[in-house]
Amino acid sequence: MSWFRSHTARANDILTYNDRGTYSVPTHGLYPVQFNWDSCFAALGYRHRNPERALSEIILLLSAQWSDGMVPHIVFRGDYDGYFPGPDVWSTGQKIPTSGITQPPVAASVLWRLWDDSAKVDRARMRQAAKRLERWHRWFANSRQDDQGAIFIVHPWESGRDNLTDWDVGMNRVQPDTGLGEYIRRDLEHVNAVQRPTKEEYDRYLTIVHHGRKIGWDQKEMGRSSPFRMVCAGMTAILLAAERDLLLIMSELEMPTANTKRRISRLEDGWRSLWNPKVKSYVNRDLETSWTSNAVTASAFLGAYAGMTDNLGSMMDHFDRISGKVRFMLPSFDPDCEGFDPERYWRGPVWFIINNMVGKGFEKIGESSRAARIKIDTAKLAESSGFYEYFNPITGRGLGGKSFTWTASVYLDWAGRN
Ligand code: GLC
Repeated sequence: MSWFRSHTARANDILTYNDRGTYSVPTHGLYPVQFNWDSCFAALGYRHRNPERALSEIILLLSAQWSDGMVPHIVFRGDYDGYFPGPDVWSTGQKIPTSGITQPPVAASVLWRLWDDSAKVDRARMRQAAKRLERWHRWFANSRQDDQGAIFIVHPWESGRDNLTDWDVGMNRVQPDTGLGEYIRRDLEHVNAVQRPTKEEYDRYLTIVHHGRKIGWDQKEMGRSSPFRMVCAGMTAILLAAERDLLLIMSELEMPTANTKRRISRLEDGWRSLWNPKVKSYVNRDLETSWTSNAVTASAFLGAYAGMTDNLGSMMDHFDRISGKVRFMLPSFDPDCEGFDPERYWRGPVWFIINNMVGKGFEKIGESSRAARIKIDTAKLAESSGFYEYFNPITGRGLGGKSFTWTASVYLDWAGRN
């Protein structure tokens, strides 16, 4: 790709390069399959040049919904030979091959953003999507909600923040038994091992997959018996925002909304239950023990995005403290906490999609200068380092996969300045 093209043109080139006709891959090589929240963020990138395609990207994703309502984290389409773990390992028995867990449910929020600025969106297709989203959100309430209303995950990959330092607590309890013998990781053919999860982590990820297979991927049972169960602030806030956006869509379509409203109020309780008065932040916790994190991860700032503005003063103090520690906001993990690593995946690097959601939330509540800090840092990273998967918050170095779809999309839809 030519460096003489503008950043916007290059971001558009990346979307085209990662376009597989009816869906997008996150990046060529490393992730040759359709990922749930990646596809939704791809739709954000598409909405300016092709709103119709943006909508069909999401509808195609939703067409892989399971009969219990879950929308899986990976849908195996096209040539997925280079991806591990593939459909044989997951062995979910679905007609369209998929993984057996879900991912952060951003689809409804992206759909609302599509509708909000495009009068052309087809109401019948929207209704079709809204019905499926309602079933997916209900699935969360049935299979992934704890007794306080917060959302928990049964696999670190479900959070979308695969190796977040907080997940170590649950992961240490998983007794490695992958059921696979020796296996070959394909990710290391594309990315330097120091920027990826370790072999010990991979063994445990696969052990949880093995457990899912043993129980025939019964998701309620998975919610009860997975060897890894941790309450996730990111999932709770993202689902709460998605429920609010689904409510707007369903109201426009004159669909019944009483159940959605009930789920919203339960999730509000769930978000409040994540408050840790000792650190004065919203934190992750373990479902098996009483362990509660003392770290401020990037998802703690998603309250405003989810329409929750309690404890704003304390959260902004954390934001300012962290801004003083890094050149580029928002590090995925607290730089003042043990376990921060500026180069290893979700243990410190900046991710554009999180910046986008946090930044949008701040804009909505009038936190404009802090929102601008996130947005300008995001633009600077892409413009000086390229459209990488994630970035070092201290040096700005681009890390992981190159020419990344959601990085390009967030630039086109929000952060880009040209
Ligand atoms: C990694 C990320 C996850 C993302 C996927 C594809 O697994 O942690 O959030 O969806 O890559 O980009």
